[in-house]
Amino acid sequence: MKQALLEVRGLNKSYPTSKKGFFRRSRIPVLRDVDLSIAPGEVLGLVGESGSGKSTLGKAVLKLIEADSGTIKFDGRDLANLSPEDLRAVRKDIQIIFQDPYASLDPRKSIRAVLSEALDTHQLHMGAKREGRLNELLEMVGLSPEFLGRLPHEFSGGQRQRIGIARAIAVEPRFIVADEAVSALDVSIQAQVLNLLADLREKTGVSILFISHDLSVVRFISDRVMVLYLGRVMEIGRADDIHFSPAHPYTAALVSAEPSLKPSLERMRLTGEIPSPVNPPPGCVFSSRCPYVQDACAAEIPKLRQIEETRFSACIRDNILNGVQ
Ligand SMILES: Nc1ncnc2c1ncn2[C@@H]1O[C@H](COP(=O)(O)OP(=O)(O)OP(=O)(O)O)[C@@H](O)[C@H]1O
Ligand code: SF4
Ligand SMILES: [Mg+2]
Repeated sequence: MKQALLEVRGLNKSYPTSKKGFFRRSRIPVLRDVDLSIAPGEVLGLVGESGSGKSTLGKAVLKLIEADSGTIKFDGRDLANLSPEDLRAVRKDIQIIFQDPYASLDPRKSIRAVLSEALDTHQLHMGAKREGRLNELLEMVGLSPEFLGRLPHEFSGGQRQRIGIARAIAVEPRFIVADEAVSALDVSIQAQVLNLLADLREKTGVSILFISHDLSVVRFISDRVMVLYLGRVMEIGRADDIHFSPAHPYTAALVSAEPSLKPSLERMRLTGEIPSPVNPPPGCVFSSRCPYVQDACAAEIPKLRQIEETRFSACIRDNILNGVQ
């Protein structure tokens, strides 16, 4: 693998509980010992059920929240040790695409104003070059430059998401966090926006952390996929391997829940509630829902182990599920 653009090691994040004294502990752990790396030009998909910590991880990488511990390196530099000037430069390099661009677009501002604001913040394409850049940006996201004067409410959901993408790429970032970026769109529009993101990655070489609860969407766009459960990494590997031959029982359960599952693959129903992160089961946090659970699973938290050249799984079993055993 190429040298990582983003490298996260041992990331932990907890939030204070609102009900003081109700739980023994006063903080809820949301991310536990998360490691990840993303190469230049790579798309890493991040999946997991609601509450698994996906957005928290995205926000920590964007420095929108402070992690409790762990390191985040961007292009080899630890984000915790940057001068305000260097941090400003990194903020240009790391952008976000939101789930609901409407909520993040000021209803009174034209698209020209929205995109100009992004460029002004970083003093890019100033003066006479500005108009050309605005036109180019709209063309890059498949919208007509004639739309520059329009207000957000004059666009459809899919078009608004294209504007959100134009705003993110306006400053030529090297890394984008896309958090549920297509989840609010109709399926046919989802495919168009996913294709647009894939094209932009191809053309600009931008790396993307693509967050979604929908594994089929993640697989479509990602090179590798990371699976989170209760704030811990369960499995990470190439997108097709994760989809066609999941190694970790939790990944297998997520794949099973997909309507497009190949009939030849064994279905695995995910039963039971996600346990409270304040009081997870001992040892493997998935053990209360895992059909393969055995006594040894409670002994200690399984470490993420390399089980193939490009695959890591946090399970004591060696088998790859559903695939060649
Ligand atoms: N600011 C906060 N204060 C307290 N708890 C929080 C805060 N933000 C998130 N949490 C909790 O952290 C956990 C993880 O939340 P997060 O939003 O990262 O999950 P997610 O995987 O993105 O879920 P979803 O798929 O629903 O977007 C949840 O239990 C959530 O309630
Ligand atoms: S360690 Fe045990 S409980 Fe956890 S996923 Fe593997 S088999 Fe299931
Ligand atoms: Mg989220």
